Amino acid sequence: MSHNNTLEFLAGASSALQGRARVPGDKSISHRAIMLGAIAHGTTHITGFLEGEDSLCTMHAFRAMGVAIEGPEQGRVTVYGVGLKGLKKPHHALDCGNSGTAMRLLAGLLAGQDFASTLVGDSSLSKRPMKRVIDPIGQMGAKITASTGGRPPLHIPGNTALHALHYQLPMASAQVKSSVLLAGLYANGQTVVTEPAVTRDHTERMLRAFGVQVVSEGRTVRLLGGQSLHACNINVPSDISSAAFFMVAASIAGQADITLEHVGMNPTRTGVIDILRLMGAKIDVFNAREVGGEPVADLRVRNAPLKGIVIPEELVPLAIDEFPVLLVAAANAQGQTVLTGAEELRVKESDRIALMAQGLQACGVQAKPTPDGMVIEGLGHEPGLRYEATHIDCQGDHRIAMAFVVAALRARGVMRIQGAQTVATSFPGFVEQAAGLGMQVRAHQPPGGPK
Ligand code: S3P
Repeated sequence: MSHNNTLEFLAGASSALQGRARVPGDKSISHRAIMLGAIAHGTTHITGFLEGEDSLCTMHAFRAMGVAIEGPEQGRVTVYGVGLKGLKKPHHALDCGNSGTAMRLLAGLLAGQDFASTLVGDSSLSKRPMKRVIDPIGQMGAKITASTGGRPPLHIPGNTALHALHYQLPMASAQVKSSVLLAGLYANGQTVVTEPAVTRDHTERMLRAFGVQVVSEGRTVRLLGGQSLHACNINVPSDISSAAFFMVAASIAGQADITLEHVGMNPTRTGVIDILRLMGAKIDVFNAREVGGEPVADLRVRNAPLKGIVIPEELVPLAIDEFPVLLVAAANAQGQTVLTGAEELRVKESDRIALMAQGLQACGVQAKPTPDGMVIEGLGHEPGLRYEATHIDCQGDHRIAMAFVVAALRARGVMRIQGAQTVATSFPGFVEQAAGLGMQVRAHQPPGGPK
């Protein structure tokens, strides 16, 4: 498969990491702040907004539907809400770029509008499964059409009287849960969603911050349609999924003592900390506080001898985006790590099981992919360089690119990571922050220049 390669990372070993970093705003929360701000009454002020391509796609989509939005300027965004029914028909298809969250949440929200709309995405998003939202939204009355196999683009009919749904999610997916809840805002009656395992609950929390009554009981969420949203101020914490790269980097470095500031600590997202601690990582959580309904803290991470573990399956949905880099941690641990129950990784921005296994194998690590996970024989935690530097094509997947920059910390030679421009979707400034902490990484335009 060939992907654009307009940027490469060249990453190498470094023995000591130190300093402080505040990684960019949470991607999931940034998308939701724009969406809910747009359909609220009044003016929503957002700070800490992620100025990454994914959340900017969501912003552009709402501008195309007539919502006045100022910013982003140093993470500040002002959204002039138009109310539940105030969106205007866009003149063109809405481009969700690389973002599954934008497409799946918008599909639910747009099903409730009185105009038809079309959602498109880039080559990676165009391969991702959308039947998971088409099915429940269809049961609510809106027949979304898609390409063969339920792939984007999605055509969403307007003017549908949605009816509330009791839905048992077939997979643990916060995107599907959120899509149904957003459609539920426009439905007649009470929508009830039950998930097979707990997933991130940012939609529920933020709806409450906007004054909507949402009841969560165990794995079930209920919401009555027709409730209006009232503007509020949203302070977006730093994205724990971005912080995770530096958590693993510090853990496997020869010497490290770093502090990551203002990291989102929502308990539905902290699986990465639990898993790393089970492996022996030294992570101290301090200054715990709450901003806008979301817990936040500072994290101190020091190097530690990691050991291989059997990853508890109940932690998988709570760390779903962190597996590329968690598998790098496993490759640097003493003993075997076993990941199961993670088949969702096959339908992320890339097939993350296949790509991580290939990349780790190319480094000389024994990594055996399984249908729902991986078995990794760690190379041990003794000081020194552990594996071959290699050449990785991250195939349009930002988290694969960043995971291999972390892997390069213990590689002999320079790791070349192709397709790194995709890192701008979730972590603008990654190279500068990584270098600031002492990692050896630089961005480079490959010969031939941008295609
Ligand atoms: C997200 C949910 C997760 C996650 C994605 C963001 C969200 O996807 O992988 O990066 O913002 O709701 P699934 O819900 O499909 O697992």
